[in-house]
Amino acid sequence: MLRNDQLDQWDRETFFHPSTHLAQHARGESPNRVIRTASGVHIEDRDGRRLLDGFAGLYCVNAGYGRQEIAEAIAAQARELAYYHAYAGHGTEASITLAKMILDRAPANMSKVYFGLGGSDANETNVKLVWYYNNVLGRPEKKKIISRWRGYHGSGLMTGSLTGLELFHKKFDLPLSQVIHTEAPYYYRRKDLNQTEAEFVAHCAAELERLIDREGADTIAAFIGEPVLGTGGIVPPPAGYWQAIQKVLRKHDILLIADEVVTGFGRLGTMFGSDHYGIEADLITIAKGLTSAYAPLSGSIISDRVWKVLERGTDENGVIGHGWTYSAHPIGAAAGVANLKLLDDLGLVRNAGETGAYLTQAMRDALGDHPNVGEIRGAGMLAAVELVEDRAARRFFDPARKVGIQIAGAMLADSGVIARAMPQGDIIGFAPPFCLTRAEADTIVAATRNAVTKILG
Ligand SMILES: Cc1ncc(COP(=O)(O)O)c(C=O)c1O
Repeated sequence: MLRNDQLDQWDRETFFHPSTHLAQHARGESPNRVIRTASGVHIEDRDGRRLLDGFAGLYCVNAGYGRQEIAEAIAAQARELAYYHAYAGHGTEASITLAKMILDRAPANMSKVYFGLGGSDANETNVKLVWYYNNVLGRPEKKKIISRWRGYHGSGLMTGSLTGLELFHKKFDLPLSQVIHTEAPYYYRRKDLNQTEAEFVAHCAAELERLIDREGADTIAAFIGEPVLGTGGIVPPPAGYWQAIQKVLRKHDILLIADEVVTGFGRLGTMFGSDHYGIEADLITIAKGLTSAYAPLSGSIISDRVWKVLERGTDENGVIGHGWTYSAHPIGAAAGVANLKLLDDLGLVRNAGETGAYLTQAMRDALGDHPNVGEIRGAGMLAAVELVEDRAARRFFDPARKVGIQIAGAMLADSGVIARAMPQGDIIGFAPPFCLTRAEADTIVAATRNAVTKILG
């Protein structure tokens, strides 16, 4: 085994970490945390420190860590057939079985599954399919994609453009010109504090309609949104939002891509966020929870409406020119099959709904009256605490104070609980594995209360 200081040196000298302050890390000014093992909701670092992972990695280890059933399925697949491609009609037992299992769980209008590797590439696929669709239909001008400010859809060229967070655009020459952004359904941060929730929903729909009118409906191909805004702040939509938005989209013949990378496979206590909010998408993006991150795998679930046009396209143009070497990789597929079985066998989706609701309520009981807590919100096994300088006036902290980062840091240092300081705003995010118990939820809440009190009084 390597000595720790050797590993630390190699890390600083050789490893380009994503979403990291590169210069500080190289200089040794930020921690390098080497995680060695994990079980249930806990991870353990190389120094033997055990931490409660209140964010399930990057909201992806939904089944919890250390699941031998998934590990065994991966090992068995690797021994039997580590790889074969899926081009030109090829497949494996695992990939075909998984496609069937996904469609059995997906909304009724869904028809086929395309497999990729991560959420970003699956969204990239969806945008390409939308463009192809409109070309086949003879509408070459109908290509722009509408996304929301604070949406998160990945960090590729197109998907980083879809993402509506400044950090992911700055110095990368993004967003690309085909992407336009509209209002985030973030009621707490509405501009007009006098607006009721219903008025705010009407405002979001009207803003969308104004954007469509300005650009011309015949130039807009699709709207993409997460059922619950994730990285943008963990924000469940106000009541009636998705109904109002879908009405506008249908009127202008604009496709809807539901990005269910976080919400797919149970995080809201329902199999899909689309089920939870009555979203009837044309394309659904899945990743993370599909394998509970035991292997990289993503997918685009394609509706019957879009599929028929894709088929017509290949009749007219030949083979579809889209695919990757690792599309439908059998090891990822085997992990997916084992993971979806495990979710069913252990009733983990139900637990996500029930224990998630308990977590949010316990957080409200513990911190709801704190003068710097502006809002506590949640949906299923997702929760957030938003901090403000002045609660009555809803005045936010100066971002330079890094209040959210300080609180998440204190939770880790003092209580061994991992929460995520969300990137835009002083928002502490929670997305634990679905196997979280009430006692573990209580530990998260106590850690949050202690850290908020320590940093803000
Ligand atoms: C809603 C959503 N879409 C897409 C992505 C991108 O997925 P990946 O990081 O696997 O490319 C993420 C990642 O957090 C996400 O939250």
